[in-house]
Amino acid sequence: MKYNKLEVNLKALRTNIKTALKIIGKNNFFYPFVKSNAYGVGIHEVTRILTEEGLHEVGLLTSEEARSLNSKKVQILIFGPIEKSEEFLSNPHWTPIISSFDDLNIFSQTIMNNKSSHNIHIKFDVGMSRLGFDSKDTDELISFFKTNTHLKLQGVCAHLSRGEDIGIPNSSAGKQIEQFKKIGKEIKKHIPSIKQHLLNSSALLGSFCHDLDIEYGSRLGGFIYGIKHDIENQTQTALKKWSQLDLQPVTTLKAGVLSSRVISQGCGVSYDSLWKAKTDSNIAVISMGYADGISRNLTGMDVLFRGQRVPIVGAVCMNFFMIDLTPVLGLKEKPKRGEEIVIYGKQQNQEITIKEHAQALGSIPYEVMTHISPSVQRVYYDL
Ligand SMILES: Cc1ncc(COP(=O)(O)O)c(C=O)c1O
Repeated sequence: MKYNKLEVNLKALRTNIKTALKIIGKNNFFYPFVKSNAYGVGIHEVTRILTEEGLHEVGLLTSEEARSLNSKKVQILIFGPIEKSEEFLSNPHWTPIISSFDDLNIFSQTIMNNKSSHNIHIKFDVGMSRLGFDSKDTDELISFFKTNTHLKLQGVCAHLSRGEDIGIPNSSAGKQIEQFKKIGKEIKKHIPSIKQHLLNSSALLGSFCHDLDIEYGSRLGGFIYGIKHDIENQTQTALKKWSQLDLQPVTTLKAGVLSSRVISQGCGVSYDSLWKAKTDSNIAVISMGYADGISRNLTGMDVLFRGQRVPIVGAVCMNFFMIDLTPVLGLKEKPKRGEEIVIYGKQQNQEITIKEHAQALGSIPYEVMTHISPSVQRVYYDL
């Protein structure tokens, strides 16, 4: 519907990228993550901004995403399992992150059969129990790359299960880093130029808050999109640094008023009349529903109308939800057709953060961001 918009503040995106670059420093590197349509923000616009900010490598999940990005201006790291290894032959700027011997053998065979060569990275599992080789595979992998010289091992990486605890003694992050350190050291003996990357957004934030000098490269999604992970049970100094770090929200989700009606006390709203008016109420119908990617469980959550918080009442429908405007308009005034509603983001002096929105759903900002349907138009501004 025309009133539904995901507004994307490209200036905030640029600021967050610059903040990341400042923390990471000149001696390290980072792969911004633009998978899943750049976390819903829009892969093409985000990649454009990244290149304008001097970054020319991005992380994606699939070759389908790489195809859709269709850019030769950036080196693309593909993190998901290999789907069609032949596609890499005509795309030398695609680098697979290989996580299993099955994929390694298939990829190697394709490259060899075509008398070609290709860069690859490999990924180890150090605690996620997700994709990746085991540390005990290290020697076998080193031998493999010694004999299969058509594959150029450029990078090695792992993914932390809880990066924000990186500065806490005996944390899982600390143990996972130790494991990765051993793997990296072994591989470096044979390939001194190998790139090692490990930090995600929460780990970069954690290392910044604790002034840790981490020697590994970063792969960041949430951070550049303005998601600031909470750090809990940390030192006062770390918490102070956390509060001083300004990550700017990049997205604002907006919808509009379609119509309104005054209902009598006791009248039900939406399916199953889950909400009934305690007094006569001024109820507006809003242009967004769960088919647009907001959750059906938003009932009871606030949205912003004329810079004030008003509650969603009754069940969220497929294409609509209802809000109670009585606290702002009373019973006599009608909202204008198309009047703006902010579901998360700022309106006048009020803000509903994406984190607050996600918490109300028992979720995280990443899930909220990636659920916004492509039917919601993305509107970019760079002021
Ligand atoms: C392997 C890997 N690295 C890095 C990231 C980026 O994480 P974040 O968005 O928290 O920075 C992800 C995100 O899903 C990932 O799967």
